[in-house]
Amino acid sequence: MWARLSCRGEGMNRKRLIAGNWKMNGSVVANEALVRAVIAGMEGVNCRVAVCVPAPYLAQVQQLRAGSSLELGAQDVSAHAQGAYTGEVSAAMLREFGTRYAIVGHSERRQYHAESDAMVADKAKAALAEGITPIVCVGETLAEREGSRTEEVVKRQLAAVIHVNGHCISEIVVAYEPVWAIGTGKTATPEQAQQVHAVLRAQLRAASTRDSRIAILYGGSMNAANAASLLAQPDIDGGLIGGASLKAADFLQIIAAADQAGATP
Ligand code: PGA
Repeated sequence: MWARLSCRGEGMNRKRLIAGNWKMNGSVVANEALVRAVIAGMEGVNCRVAVCVPAPYLAQVQQLRAGSSLELGAQDVSAHAQGAYTGEVSAAMLREFGTRYAIVGHSERRQYHAESDAMVADKAKAALAEGITPIVCVGETLAEREGSRTEEVVKRQLAAVIHVNGHCISEIVVAYEPVWAIGTGKTATPEQAQQVHAVLRAQLRAASTRDSRIAILYGGSMNAANAASLLAQPDIDGGLIGGASLKAADFLQIIAAADQAGATP
């Protein structure tokens, strides 16, 4: 039998990406109102918009988004293809519901579910094998930043993913999410974020044989007020939005900021 292709991502272009991460929030009723409002408000925008929803709601949101350009994402994916892994959801299952993205290595999973750099790399590989774009999260804790270890930490986290997926690294999306900025209301300043994005950009360039620009999103208390200044930075291609993605008006303002920022360089 032929070996399964190890990466068949759809590839990104220079459009910006605004991805909502609902985390463990939502209900059938609330999702419907939120998705309908987002779809209505994003009509005509020239950027990619996705919502990464809890697995039980993939089918619901797949139906709600039909005919629109809203894309669907998951918040995690199993590193395994199938079998005795109770509670896990495979990339092939996600694919059956039209899932375009899967967040991997979110700091909440690294912290509460003991996900190692190697495990995150394997999850990215499993997603790529099914044509799902992994949104690979990296980021330092406050202690690491204060110990001047930011660069070392994010490079180590990304290096693990490059090591396992080097040949199809241009198919991934990276999200820089400083742990101290997630859900805290403390955002990295545009300059702080840009500094790390530039480091990640250089690392990706060195690893990628293709000339395509790999999207690097910023995440961590991104909101309607700070989105434009973050997106104005040369290496910030979009956002991974937690809290603000649960309110249609806030999420739409971030989408509008990305639309106004135009294509990435
Ligand atoms: P936040 O979350 O926007 O609520 O800080 C971002 C994330 O964790 O992806």
